[in-house]
Amino acid sequence: MTDWNERYKIGDTPWEKGAAAPPLIELLGKTQEEIWGSGRTLVPGCGSGHDVRALATAGITAVGVDLAREAIRRAEVFPRISDETYEQGDFLEKDFAEGKTFSAIWEHTCFCAIDPQRRENYAESCSRLLQSGGHLIGVFFLTAQDPGEEQQGPPFNSTISELDERFARWFDRIKEWVPESSYPGRKGKEWLAIYRKR
Ligand SMILES: C[S@@+](CC[C@H](N)C(=O)[O-])C[C@H]1O[C@@H](n2cnc3c(N)ncnc32)[C@H](O)[C@@H]1O
Repeated sequence: MTDWNERYKIGDTPWEKGAAAPPLIELLGKTQEEIWGSGRTLVPGCGSGHDVRALATAGITAVGVDLAREAIRRAEVFPRISDETYEQGDFLEKDFAEGKTFSAIWEHTCFCAIDPQRRENYAESCSRLLQSGGHLIGVFFLTAQDPGEEQQGPPFNSTISELDERFARWFDRIKEWVPESSYPGRKGKEWLAIYRKR
């Protein structure tokens, strides 16, 4: 099992690019408010918070959650843009959702970081935390590999059919596309999807 806090402490963070995810920037330049809704947007596995700050810059009230205390410490070092906040917590745990509701969840490199056996928990957490009509907006990592094959991760990739299946119990996929912008090395591997909670 990955010790995320330790990885931050020793600087073993190859995912840390020092900037928000290019597909998010692309999306924020294009989408209308209705995708994000009028409530708060949650960023699970927010790391040092670049995506949270990009959302805040776009005028969206964003909350970042991360399992690793060290990630949250790093996120909090950055000057506040507006009323974005960070919380240390486990997105997969029921307790985390207690008393919380969001109009959107922005997924980027959290779904691929968790053990694939816990993906059902991930989908359930999204459902628990989103208001009805809320959106799970995610950039996911795809693979041509048979999802049944054991992967050496994290990151753990997925397929469109697996994602649709995971979320089908609570969500309808309303949009999907391949982002034009990606970090170097990720081009062509990312897929953006918007799932609406019923
Ligand atoms: C690959 S990193 C990506 C971090 C950030 N999204 C980025 O792109 O810089 C995965 C992050 O998910 C966090 N994480 C893993 N499992 C989690 C969980 N159950 N709840 C909240 N955060 C989690 C890790 O601590 C880590 O910061």
